[in-house]
Amino acid sequence: MFNTSNNTNNSSNNGGITSFLKLKWRTSTKYNIKPRLPNTVDDIERDWVRHNALKLAFENDFKAPIERLLQAGGSEVLDIGCGAGFWTTDMAARFPLSYFIGLDIDKNVLPTSPCGRNVLYQHMDLIELPLPFEDATFDYVFVRSMLSTMPDHLWDDVLKELIRIMKKGAYIECVEAYDNLFDTGPSMNILIELVLRSTQQPPYSPTKENSRNPWPNRLANISQLMGMRIHHTHTPVGFHGGEIGALLLEYWERMISSYRDEWIANKWIDEEELEKTIELMKEEVEEHNTYMSWYSVVARKKGYAGPVLQFDDVDDDGTVYTTTCC
Ligand SMILES: C[S@@+](CC[C@H](N)C(=O)[O-])C[C@H]1O[C@@H](n2cnc3c(N)ncnc32)[C@H](O)[C@@H]1O
Repeated sequence: MFNTSNNTNNSSNNGGITSFLKLKWRTSTKYNIKPRLPNTVDDIERDWVRHNALKLAFENDFKAPIERLLQAGGSEVLDIGCGAGFWTTDMAARFPLSYFIGLDIDKNVLPTSPCGRNVLYQHMDLIELPLPFEDATFDYVFVRSMLSTMPDHLWDDVLKELIRIMKKGAYIECVEAYDNLFDTGPSMNILIELVLRSTQQPPYSPTKENSRNPWPNRLANISQLMGMRIHHTHTPVGFHGGEIGALLLEYWERMISSYRDEWIANKWIDEEELEKTIELMKEEVEEHNTYMSWYSVVARKKGYAGPVLQFDDVDDDGTVYTTTCC
């Protein structure tokens, strides 16, 4: 099946449903992909835990009103910075008649085993513009946990490019966590400070920017977009919050554990104190009902003047439920 760890020119003889995608692929001699910030196993496992927590938190994989179109089939979806493709793979399995592309700068993180005939993973750097897609290729572009992956000012050009490759009427959805945890105890505060100290400096962050222009501000400034909607969700961290809470506590423990060696080596905290702080943090999140918050912002590209689609769902007893879309 697909071995997508090569570059975009490795597109021969996959055949089948995905061959349509190759037709839209522009070859680019300008390509010079420089692997940066490779994902560690820790990163990937953490992404997996977060992916499952977010699915529960948003009660779905997405908030854009695109479900009926994806079900109907023929829609084309792009997941930028897809990582190990957890979202893309789930979506492609759930909507087998639509087509999914996940792209990531880190070729080693992309799935290489077969994930379905309607999904394709590509090694690509978002900063290397233009992206190798024709104008108006995609019905839906998904962007999750990506804000901090590149310097703030570069997003303007990348977003412009994403709008170019979206069809008129297509949706873009950006999902991100708010920076802060809320109702935290003193031990969690110490650990957050340490995480920030690590993540807000190279090599983890390409810049030292402390506050980034969040997605809603960015999307609101793009004149080709309309109908922006923001969904917020507050998610418990700790067992007080059931399954989501347990997953997000695991997420934070994994985050802490991936930086712990660096903290100890830099003498930011000694090992014994770190262990004590982690144990206290686990008690505190339950006492304080600690939580974190996420948002999903969805907007639509202007200019759709196509037909209104009608979907009929027929119940077992023959009742027909009609909904329209677009
Ligand atoms: C925090 S992970 C998010 C993964 C996935 N979107 C999710 O929600 O599970 C960020 C991903 O963005 C990728 N990335 C960072 N910079 C990139 C770039 N310039 N072009 C493409 N992918 C990039 C990283 O390799 C990583 O897999």
